[in-house]
Amino acid sequence: MNQVVSIATEGQIAIITIDNPPVNALSQAVRSGLLECVNEAVSDRNIHAIILICTGRTFIAGADISEFGQPPLEPFLPDVLETLDNCSKPIIAAMHGTALGGGLETALACRYRIALDSARIGLPEVTLGLIPGAGGTQRLPRIAGLASALDLITSGRHVAAKEALRMGVLDQITTQEDLLAAAMDFARQMLAAGDSRQRISATRLEDSSENRAILADWETRLRKKARGQESPLVALESIKNAVRLPFAEGLEKERELFMACMGSAQSRALRHIFFAERAAAKLPASIADAPADIHSAAIIGGGTMGRGIAMCFANINIPVKVIETDQDRLAQALEAIERTYRKMTVQGRINEDQQRRRMALVTGSCEHASLAQTDLVIEAAFENLEVKRSIFGSLDRHCKADAILATNTSYLDIEAIASAVSEPSRVLGMHFFSPAHIMKLLEVVRTPQTSAGAISTMMKLGKALGKRTVLVGNGFGFAANRMYSAYGREGQQILLEGVTPAHLDQAMKNWGMAMGPAAVLDMSGIDIGYNARQQNPHPPDDPCYFRPADLLAEHGYLGRKSGRGFYRYDPNTGQASEDLEIIELIRGDARRLGVDQRDLPEHDIQQRMIRAIATEGEAILAEGIAGKRSDLDVIWVNGYGFPRWRGGPMHYATEMGWL
Ligand code: 3HC
Repeated sequence: MNQVVSIATEGQIAIITIDNPPVNALSQAVRSGLLECVNEAVSDRNIHAIILICTGRTFIAGADISEFGQPPLEPFLPDVLETLDNCSKPIIAAMHGTALGGGLETALACRYRIALDSARIGLPEVTLGLIPGAGGTQRLPRIAGLASALDLITSGRHVAAKEALRMGVLDQITTQEDLLAAAMDFARQMLAAGDSRQRISATRLEDSSENRAILADWETRLRKKARGQESPLVALESIKNAVRLPFAEGLEKERELFMACMGSAQSRALRHIFFAERAAAKLPASIADAPADIHSAAIIGGGTMGRGIAMCFANINIPVKVIETDQDRLAQALEAIERTYRKMTVQGRINEDQQRRRMALVTGSCEHASLAQTDLVIEAAFENLEVKRSIFGSLDRHCKADAILATNTSYLDIEAIASAVSEPSRVLGMHFFSPAHIMKLLEVVRTPQTSAGAISTMMKLGKALGKRTVLVGNGFGFAANRMYSAYGREGQQILLEGVTPAHLDQAMKNWGMAMGPAAVLDMSGIDIGYNARQQNPHPPDDPCYFRPADLLAEHGYLGRKSGRGFYRYDPNTGQASEDLEIIELIRGDARRLGVDQRDLPEHDIQQRMIRAIATEGEAILAEGIAGKRSDLDVIWVNGYGFPRWRGGPMHYATEMGWL
């Protein structure tokens, strides 16, 4: 017994309770306390069963990630769990919240498992570049079968209690609020009936042709999907051992593989981004945390962005009003939202009841006067300063004095927009990324006038919306688009040097980016960046600056929407192919500008592109537009398809010794 693990008895049952906020992670104190308490229960002759339960918001959410990368401290988790597995008295894990990683592995080492119906379980180690390292790859296949174990372990996904029950991971789920009482009932019934269950370590998985076929099928699928990430394939290797080796040997091999993963650059990167995302969500010490609750929202503009943002609110049960300039546009916007929800229902992402409830929260109006009681208004209108200033002037007249007024502009000067309002302290940017209801990133942009109340309200709301929220300062392109622009600029320079769009894109995809930069421009429309550059008050004095993109825009080659951009698009299939005329057009302009043509190897392209991001990142930090390097990593991983397992451009640049 120690400060974080305690033991009590009730009749023949011992209750071991872990109390290690915030998430009951398996720190050294928890591991040693657990071991002591189990030994105490075993040596007490009056005890016949043990319940393991946690206080606070969750059952054990995993090993203590903050201890990783340091010399491991005894007792080691696998040894503690071996004691649980070999325990002469049945242990019942009673779970609530999220039983994850080492937390679920602890439960798997217990003889029985029950959970609240609201609980979720999972082995998310692969998302940290690891594999389950305390028996998960050996025990879960034995308990839930090979297919379910492969699914959970190689994806890292969390599943709801009901699914876990179906998989055989849980013995019971309870809707009773008092989990301990449910566990006591379960224990008493089990004792009355007699504990006949075998220890997990004593069970076997057959090395059958059926199991071998399942493993081979997963291997093919994973190799296709991995795109550079190592840990899911390492996890598969370890799961194979559950079939081909005795339990103890499988466990030993699992430990070796786990330790190798722990030392890998990928795991370092993934652990970095885990903590970076949580650090980004925190307010800097200089801003008082005084968030208000948002009970209603409105979106000005029912275009693609406005619709997506409106859905973000309806998705978390906040009524939202879409404001359009006329009834036709409004009807189109509402119909488009309904269509998207219907599609999500057909795809099984939401059910019909959720579709109905969400749609009922979305209303519309053509009058700013209808916003008198709205807590938050987000403007998502045309990217033009005067249009936005006139909207904010009107909002100032019609909204209540404490309403927060936000703009979704991606690069315009928010102070200039705020100056149209009598109290600029309530104005800030909420920069969503398209499609807004799907993309995880949200930039909250403050001006020097924005109040602490408005900032803290938006940071809290960002989390509630399920976004990775980063606080940044006002400046052309803020942090995200400005860095992306530096990356794009380098890509454009590389095109001028004679590299083809397909070669550039393939190099970056091979590096791990979700899409290549030329394909991204074609998809989003080459005119978007072109128009933004026209509005840049301080364009760089460089004739090569985005020259290929501007050249294409001047010719009306705007990307996918015009059938031609950096690639040519088949009008029937949409299939992209190389366009030799476009390549020649760019090379011709490069000759005019005197840019030397050369053959760049893939590695050089990749290094130049990432270095360009990191250099701009450093400038952004120096100007105070962003607070920390790790915030910039969060932006890239969540906004631009940067490979998570590389930790973000600033982390990569730091590891390379560039910063
Ligand atoms: N170790 C250490 N700290 C942890 C932690 C962990 N496993 N999990 C969460 N925390 C910390 C967070 O850093 C955060 O700290 P902060 O307040 O100082 O920033 C705090 O707990 C709360 O976390 P969240 O802000 O993420 O809270 P949420 O309620 O949004 O989410 C959660 C809770 C779902 C448990 C989420 O934190 C999570 O997914 N945690 C990671 C779970 C995980 O990956 N477990 C596996 C670990 S690896 C392992 O177990 C190896 C084993 O196989 C040997």
